[in-house]
Amino acid sequence: MNKDWLKLIPAAVALLAIPALAQTGKGDVVYVPTPQVVVDEMLKMAKVGAKDYLIDLGSGDGRIVITAAKRLGARGFGVDLDQYLLKIANASAQKEGIADRARFIEQNLFETDLSQATVITSYLLPEMNRKLRPRLLALKPGTRVVAHDYSMGEWNADEEKTLIVPEKTVGDAGKSYIYLYIVPAHVGGTWESQILIGSQAVPYAFNFDQEFQVVTGQMRAGASEVSLPRFKVSGDEVSFNVTATVGGGPVIHRFRGWVKGDAIEGNVTVSGETTGQRVIPWAAKQTARRQMRMGSDGVAEAGRK
Ligand SMILES: C[S@@+](CC[C@H](N)C(=O)[O-])C[C@H]1O[C@@H](n2cnc3c(N)ncnc32)[C@H](O)[C@@H]1O
Repeated sequence: MNKDWLKLIPAAVALLAIPALAQTGKGDVVYVPTPQVVVDEMLKMAKVGAKDYLIDLGSGDGRIVITAAKRLGARGFGVDLDQYLLKIANASAQKEGIADRARFIEQNLFETDLSQATVITSYLLPEMNRKLRPRLLALKPGTRVVAHDYSMGEWNADEEKTLIVPEKTVGDAGKSYIYLYIVPAHVGGTWESQILIGSQAVPYAFNFDQEFQVVTGQMRAGASEVSLPRFKVSGDEVSFNVTATVGGGPVIHRFRGWVKGDAIEGNVTVSGETTGQRVIPWAAKQTARRQMRMGSDGVAEAGRK
């Protein structure tokens, strides 16, 4: 099975629905439209709604942004280098009466400001996705990225689906792959908290090592030092369970918190003979930052646009 079809098919074969004038040869990948049934599923997986701002990277005839605006009330824009496709996309937005919420701009997707996005969609080649990866991972935590047919490589999808699409004749004919990613908060580094257990304020320290959305590390609770189980950061939410000795006995901790810059706020449910079971506020402050590891790409700088 060769999934690298987007670069193999000549532009003339790829044009399908829009034969004339499209593909001036400027882009990094030929035009092939995402089947409408796949567009619908991509938007469903990303839970696109009226509050969303969607950017389609390489927007073709505009169908993804137009569907999101028309059916789901979202706003957004698409970028492409092909003037003919841009004209078609802007004309469709006009015709559908949503041109105020769906725009199509002549711009290189690698130079597009993505900072407004709450949802990014793509139907691009693997090396393009890989090149985009550090910029996507620097977007606001919780931003959803939905990719058609090609994944983000070592950044594992949070959800993936295979659709049977009988009318699809290119690539893996008859099938489409959809990959959903939730941009994780950057939590790598050290954090400190005081947790009030009974009348005692116990010092806790956390050392997080993050690769994409996966975190490993250690925790110190008073004098007890333990390894953390691998856990996932989902958008701005961290949650993990760990057992450590507190007050002379083992205590199960269930941490759940939300990252806001260099702070985490949430709660921890403790249960053990020495503590009983109780839910306690948990606030942590970051004391040193460590960059997110990105597989073979090295590290990503948090907050890069
Ligand atoms: C496979 S098509 C996908 C079209 C649309 N997103 C969809 O799913 O129906 C890829 C599109 O990206 C555009 N493109 C390729 N390289 C680009 C670049 N560097 N900047 C902007 N658009 C680009 C192509 O012109 C083409 O329309």
